[in-house]
Amino acid sequence: MDDAVQAAAYAQGDFAIAHQFLVDQAGRLLGDLPPEARALDLGCGPGDVTVRFARAWPGWHIDAVDGAEAMLTLARARLRAEALQARVRLYRAVLPHDPLPGSGYQVVLSNSLLHHLHDPQVLWSAVRAVAAPAAAVYVTDLRRPADEAELHRLIETYGAGGPAVLQRDFAASLRAAFTVQEVRGQLAAAGLAGLDVLALTDRHLAVVGCLRLAC
Ligand SMILES: C[S@@+](CC[C@H](N)C(=O)[O-])C[C@H]1O[C@@H](n2cnc3c(N)ncnc32)[C@H](O)[C@@H]1O
Repeated sequence: MDDAVQAAAYAQGDFAIAHQFLVDQAGRLLGDLPPEARALDLGCGPGDVTVRFARAWPGWHIDAVDGAEAMLTLARARLRAEALQARVRLYRAVLPHDPLPGSGYQVVLSNSLLHHLHDPQVLWSAVRAVAAPAAAVYVTDLRRPADEAELHRLIETYGAGGPAVLQRDFAASLRAAFTVQEVRGQLAAAGLAGLDVLALTDRHLAVVGCLRLAC
């Protein structure tokens, strides 16, 4: 998504309800998230989800990473507008090639990155590498519909009326997304089997839990 037109179309998409829902569910599903924490958001895009997490947890300092400069330009403007530059820092890093800004994060977040990766283990290796012991993990993404009929229903329900480029991206993303079962297999292969995978909505899944046994 390192293209200014595509990034702008994505940033202008009306994801407010879906994104706020995902952030609200983090509190519900993870229970006692630490009020003060260093958090990492992988694949932050234009920063809408990052900003919603920063507002919901005012004690968090968030490092937000994306591989696309066009996305980070939009995220920078968004953070300025929200006066959040002191608590949210942006970094350009393409997984798995570039180093991440730190490690030992108590919270690791990511929304809608997993289905962009050719190899899903790239995300799970990054989570393992950067998370503190007992870190809270909250990774959300689209989940692949069972068949084309369901895919068309989802596009009609949630994509109709939006710009053509977003409808195309939505369809491509749904086809590229994983099922709950597939993500469970990925986590087991990565040695992260302690995390739960659940179907959050008719089109989203969530990977949620605390690493290891300490919480
Ligand atoms: C669908 S957007 C999601 C953005 C944001 N998390 C949100 O929920 O609005 C996916 C983002 O992942 C980024 N991305 C894709 N592959 C990546 C990679 N290998 N490394 C880092 N970022 C990547 C893209 O640039 C894009 O900004």
